[in-house]
Amino acid sequence: MSSARFIQVDEGPLARHTALAAEAAAGLLATPASVSPKFFYDALGSRLFDAITELPEYYPTRTEAAILARHLPAIADAALGATGPRPTLVDLGAGSCAKAARLFPALQPSRYVAVDISVDYLRGVLDKLQLEHPSIQMLGVGQDFSTRLDLPADVLADPDRKGGGRSLVFYPGSSIGNFDPPAALRLLREARAVAAGGALLIGVDLLKSADILEPAYDDELGVTAAFNLNLLSHLNRLLGSNFQPRGWQHVALFNAQQSRIEMHLQARHSVDVRWPGGHRHFTAGERIHTENSAKWQPAAFESLLREAGFSSVRRFSDERGWFAVFLAS
Ligand code: AVJ
Repeated sequence: MSSARFIQVDEGPLARHTALAAEAAAGLLATPASVSPKFFYDALGSRLFDAITELPEYYPTRTEAAILARHLPAIADAALGATGPRPTLVDLGAGSCAKAARLFPALQPSRYVAVDISVDYLRGVLDKLQLEHPSIQMLGVGQDFSTRLDLPADVLADPDRKGGGRSLVFYPGSSIGNFDPPAALRLLREARAVAAGGALLIGVDLLKSADILEPAYDDELGVTAAFNLNLLSHLNRLLGSNFQPRGWQHVALFNAQQSRIEMHLQARHSVDVRWPGGHRHFTAGERIHTENSAKWQPAAFESLLREAGFSSVRRFSDERGWFAVFLAS
């Protein structure tokens, strides 16, 4: 009986905490202030995001799931054509691993490598998944790939297979939208290196009317507002800062020039925010930029994939053309 294995790339928990705190403080001190969207995802933030995916206004998750379900045989066929049988499945931002697990029956991977910012969250999830799928070797990898995706060579080398090692890299959910185009290109190139001659399966939210986009990020119930404001509670714990979430307002707007949804937190009145080692004054109406979520034109994303070095690109979409899943090899 095999059991799941785990590694945390980069520093230990203390150094990681220090680096994250320093990154958050630097963002707060910048003009305009900005904090990376990765700071949304503390324990409560991850649950609030799960709640967002159930909202009627938030179409991406269910649209992507429908595309993957409907086209799974064709997607698996094309993916296996690129990787060969029994590939390694590398899941970027794996979280609950539920999306990847739906691919297991069609892909029959020999190995499943789940990558997430913190390996701790992956432990329970992967131990359980390993019991349900004894023939797939599970490996949890803790890496913050928002700055660089760079998996240790032994993570990808399959000890049981000579000459293999081609992977299917899975990056669902349109999380690529958090990156500006140059950073997205960099990550796609790194994903291509990880695939090592295999393929990339990636979910991408598409450009559409602001009347659809804005409610998806500013829902009736205020769940997305809570998700955005929770970042301040997370910063208070991480930095020891004294943000009062009630003093801030959720702002979500579509920036047509940059083709992206932007989320901000806007100060309701002037406020001094302090933390050990720093402070920042915010005037009434001043904003902290918390997220960009790029909305791509299908042809523009296909060009980006080709620029990243992929030569064969297939696109699967829904009837409304709201979301796309690309298989690139
Ligand atoms: C997880 C980055 C894909 O941009 O739609 C949802 C995050 N932010 N609602 C997105 C998010 C506000 C989400 N991604």
